[in-house]
Amino acid sequence: MRILGIESSCDETAAAVVEDGVRILSSVVASQLSTHGKYGGVVPELASREHLRAIVPVVTTALEQAGGGYDTLSAVAVTSGPGLVGSLLVGMTYAKALCFAHKLPLIAVNHIEGHIHAVVMEASQRGEPVGYPALALVVSGGHTHLFEVREGFHYRLLGKTRDDAAGEAFDKVAKLLGYSYPGGPIIDMLAPHGDPGAIRFTLAKMKGNALDFSFSGLKTAVLRWTEQRDLSAEVQARRALQRTNAYPTVEQWLALTPKPTLDLLASFQRTVITELLRRAVACAEQIQARCLVVSGGVACNSGLRTAAEALRLPYPVLFPSPGLSTDNAAMIAAAAFPKLKRAEFSDYTLAARANLTLA
Ligand code: KG4
Ligand code: ZN
Repeated sequence: MRILGIESSCDETAAAVVEDGVRILSSVVASQLSTHGKYGGVVPELASREHLRAIVPVVTTALEQAGGGYDTLSAVAVTSGPGLVGSLLVGMTYAKALCFAHKLPLIAVNHIEGHIHAVVMEASQRGEPVGYPALALVVSGGHTHLFEVREGFHYRLLGKTRDDAAGEAFDKVAKLLGYSYPGGPIIDMLAPHGDPGAIRFTLAKMKGNALDFSFSGLKTAVLRWTEQRDLSAEVQARRALQRTNAYPTVEQWLALTPKPTLDLLASFQRTVITELLRRAVACAEQIQARCLVVSGGVACNSGLRTAAEALRLPYPVLFPSPGLSTDNAAMIAAAAFPKLKRAEFSDYTLAARANLTLA
């Protein structure tokens, strides 16, 4: 059974065809980085316009690469939230039109569930299915959530960020220091060149649910650190580099980043990783998880992967391959497969929900 997945919740227009929830026959992602990069973040109006431009060629290419027309599909799955409403509407309207024209069932998928299924799908591909209950840490530019995942894909929210998402904190710190958007991958590349123990940031203490996250205090601590020094010359130099080069190399950034700033980046990244892992591990223990699933854009972070491995936890820690960590449509098609088997279909009144929750 083949599902065409469509994803347009933020700044990536993506389509993929996945067979039986595990075999990726095609996966096409059109990134809008070049559009938003110069603004240091996603501009919602521009994102909708870019989705409109990309949706038809992206879906057509995904179908062509999968080697079959609409008659080979069993359903069309689309992200219905959470995300930018104008962006979601483009993918959803196109998905509904395809379903209407080709008499296919429509399946609504929660973007966060998609991120979890990126890992579930790859574990099945390896023949080592995820053990349940699993603890899922979904960590991206928009989310930092801990979910218990039970057999049959039942979810329970155990903790979430009260302010910024972890990826958002990476992006904001990078922007403050004059690096391009998105900042997460740049900080990831630069952090190994600094000393992660150089600056001791205080870890967030949470009143109420101790499993919630908070990154705004850390972000403010970074801001204070920069205010106590005169970084204007180096920040200006990096902004100038951005203006002449959309994708600077790590060597180019390194040439413009003095050691104290490298130490700052390394210490910031280490603090984020410590915050993420200590709560995920506490949560996994609480639910006696048989596996820890880490997904979302920040799951690409090499420091996070190394630190998780170094913990030598008594259960497997599963990360998606980098291409499936950031936004893509294969994860949406994979998440739709159990819904197809349960005939969990949507009608054409399906609405885009910016704040859709998973549990
Ligand atoms: O999942 P995603 O593509 O989109 C959302 O659903 O938000 O995640 C994008 C986020 C951005 O904040 C980006 O900076 C972050 O993931 N990110 C990283 C890395 N790669 C992407 N953060 C830290 N280290 C990375 N290697
Ligand atoms: Zn995402």
